[in-house]
Amino acid sequence: MANDTEEIVTELGRFITIEGTEGVGKSTNLAFVKQWIEARGQRVLVSREPGGTPLAEQIRELLLAQRDEPVDATAELLLVFAARAQHLNQVIKPALERGEWVLCDRFTDATYAYQGGGRGLDTQLITELEQRVQGDLRPDLTIVLDIEPEVGLARASARAELDRFERESLDFFDRVRQGYRERINAAPERYALINAGQTLEAVQRDIEQALTKLN
Ligand SMILES: Nc1ncnc2c1ncn2[C@@H]1O[C@H](COP(=O)(O)OP(=O)(O)OP(=O)(O)O)[C@@H](O)[C@H]1O
Ligand SMILES: [Mg+2]
Repeated sequence: MANDTEEIVTELGRFITIEGTEGVGKSTNLAFVKQWIEARGQRVLVSREPGGTPLAEQIRELLLAQRDEPVDATAELLLVFAARAQHLNQVIKPALERGEWVLCDRFTDATYAYQGGGRGLDTQLITELEQRVQGDLRPDLTIVLDIEPEVGLARASARAELDRFERESLDFFDRVRQGYRERINAAPERYALINAGQTLEAVQRDIEQALTKLN
């Protein structure tokens, strides 16, 4: 029965992340996904990790800065999750609760790929931090752009000075790429693995197909 106090239930927004090694086309395709969501009449908040709040952006700078001191892998991991806790609680969750969609350039899959695959940290530790920081929150869809790391690095290095990660070896990025693949193999339904070596047009056709399957 209808009554005077009609309850307004806001549907949670969808959470989409874009992943892949350096220069694979994440930022380029983020704009495409944003337009796709807006064309469906949804509000979308676009963000990135590490970062997305003033504090988390400062942590990003700490993480990316080239420095003489070797960076301990566990210290790096904890900084990533410190930034994530701030970003999640200040920005991502409130947006999803308002019914907005959230589109993020990298998220926890990057931690598994870079700190787990690349740096060789114990995946169990990452899983524990993920659970602590995120509870049950996981992306609804993760688009993984995949390309030979050398091709992506060539695209990226044509652009700006290299950051601390971009200076890593090809071996490192091969392990990162493998880290993403292991994530996908463990739970394929959450991911869209896309060949980023295609023309941008073909990449976006594949992304659109993955988005269409979302509902
Ligand atoms: N499918 C494609 N084919 C050719 N060039 C591409 C393609 N996608 C993106 N590019 C180009 O590659 C470069 C890197 O793209 P982009 O900045 O989107 O990558 P990214 O994954 O965001 O990089 P980063 O990891 O450094 O943030 C840009 O110059 C972009 O125009
Ligand atoms: Mg980018």
